[in-house]
Amino acid sequence: MPSLRIFFVVVLLAAIVLAVPTPAKKRGVQKRSFKVPRQINTAHPTGPNGPAAMRKVFRKYNFEVKADFTVKEGFIGLSKQNQNASSSAATDGNQTQSGSVAANPEQNAALFLSPVDVGGQKVNLDFDSGSSDLWMFSTELSTKTIGQHTAFDASKSATFKKVNGAQWKISYGDGSGAAGIVGTDVVTIGGVKVQNQTVQLANQVSQSFVEDTNTDGLVGLAFSTLNTVNNGVQKTPAKTFFDNVMGDLDLPVFTADLDPDGTGVYEFGKIDTTKFEGDLAWVPVKAETGFWQFSSTKFAIGNQTFDNPQGSDAIADTGTSLLLVDQQVAEAYYSQVQGAQLNAQVGGFVYPCDATLPDMSVAIGDYMAKIPGSVITFATVDDANTTCFGGVQGNQGAGMQIFGDTMFRAQFVAFNGGNQSLGLGQKPLAQ
Ligand SMILES: *[C@@H]1O[C@H](CO)[C@@H](O)[C@H](O)[C@H]1NC(C)=O
Ligand SMILES: *[C@@H]1O[C@H](CO)[C@@H](O)[C@H](O)[C@H]1NC(C)=O
Ligand SMILES: *[C@@H]1O[C@H](CO)[C@@H](O)[C@H](O)[C@H]1NC(C)=O
Ligand SMILES: *[C@@H]1O[C@H](CO)[C@@H](O)[C@H](O)[C@H]1NC(C)=O
Ligand SMILES: *[C@@H]1O[C@H](CO)[C@@H](O)[C@H](O)[C@H]1NC(C)=O
Ligand SMILES: *[C@@H]1O[C@H](CO)[C@@H](O)[C@H](O)[C@H]1NC(C)=O
Repeated sequence: MPSLRIFFVVVLLAAIVLAVPTPAKKRGVQKRSFKVPRQINTAHPTGPNGPAAMRKVFRKYNFEVKADFTVKEGFIGLSKQNQNASSSAATDGNQTQSGSVAANPEQNAALFLSPVDVGGQKVNLDFDSGSSDLWMFSTELSTKTIGQHTAFDASKSATFKKVNGAQWKISYGDGSGAAGIVGTDVVTIGGVKVQNQTVQLANQVSQSFVEDTNTDGLVGLAFSTLNTVNNGVQKTPAKTFFDNVMGDLDLPVFTADLDPDGTGVYEFGKIDTTKFEGDLAWVPVKAETGFWQFSSTKFAIGNQTFDNPQGSDAIADTGTSLLLVDQQVAEAYYSQVQGAQLNAQVGGFVYPCDATLPDMSVAIGDYMAKIPGSVITFATVDDANTTCFGGVQGNQGAGMQIFGDTMFRAQFVAFNGGNQSLGLGQKPLAQ
């Protein structure tokens, strides 16, 4: 079996700094909005890697990777007309499908970074609406572990203050994770400063973070309750950057406006109504979970809508590449794609790159978020570029759906921290 590799030319993007704070007067208090670009990391221009993206989301949410899992019998309302074209992703009977996320050394699942200034040092961090820690590689780590990452050096920051006794730790079910010390510093994003932002410096990271040379750390944008800081005795969750700036913004929101290539703009404090069609649909989230979480009990393939009352809740996650849906939903989708199959070696659904993909819609509360078939392919998996890895994948029965970039490429999303809701609008895409 030849090794599966990816060849992908990444367009090197100029590092355009969009960060322009736009102050505005409101009842005597200066409020504002600001933009932050999300860019391809030009230091490590490798293409997207389907298996790595799959491993990353399974690790992040502690989902069990099942060596074998059973395809559920007779999925509700599912058309069987196309079974022929999808024998290995069959939706009838209960034959066992192998769905392991293949162990493969290439990482590079996170390609997109945004510039952040911490105490005068520039680091490139992933804005992650699926977690709540602002943590980064630091010089507390050995130079060998740091490798090609940029590491924050607290001793070179005049404004860094260590919080004595405080620690943080993110641990995943597979034993991997990151941990370290805690401090506060002046954090500037898009020209807007937070004077006393809690920053978490890694002094331990597991191999998966070392290998993921694209990420120097994260800016967690989920709710502060999930922050992992503790004082050595008990949890003392720190406020996220968004929680700290929210009160100073024109609107208590940040928005994700991503292009089909995954680059784009995060904007804080403002909703740019030129970026989507019609009005935003607002859906309340279950903020008590700490996530931007909502129910999702319907989906559509092309024009056909399916009720899925047992559908797992879903999370809007800018830190995940894929649209990870309940396994039956992924099976239903790929049953409509000629030649699609669940490939055990690659660890997900693949199909011939020349297949026509139907549009997919997933429910976000009562709103149907449509993703045109033209933006669903995530990556190729072979040297000849004949086999493609889908941007829609199954969660192997994990009980949670994770809506990542595959959705954001087609949907403008406003995260409203004021009334804890998501605003969704269809992005105009050339189809
Ligand atoms: C596969 O696609 C990549 C990226 O578009 C390209 O650089 C490469 O030449 C292609 N390989 C073949 C065999 O067409
Ligand atoms: C199923 O596949 C067989 C063999 O490839 C083909 O002859 C037959 O027409 C297909 N049936 C349908 C309903 O597509
Ligand atoms: C499904 O699994 C059950 C229990 O393992 C078994 O009895 C049944 O024959 C299987 N059905 C099919 C269609 O394979
Ligand atoms: C800064 O943050 C730390 C940790 O959250 C807190 O203990 C301290 O009181 C804050 N200082 C100021 C000046 O707000
Ligand atoms: C939340 O705020 C937005 C924007 O101000 C508003 O349009 C929407 O109706 C509100 N949503 C909920 C669920 O309250
Ligand atoms: C889907 O619906 C649209 C609008 O109702 C229609 O124009 C289109 O032909 C339909 N497509 C299919 C495949 O039925």
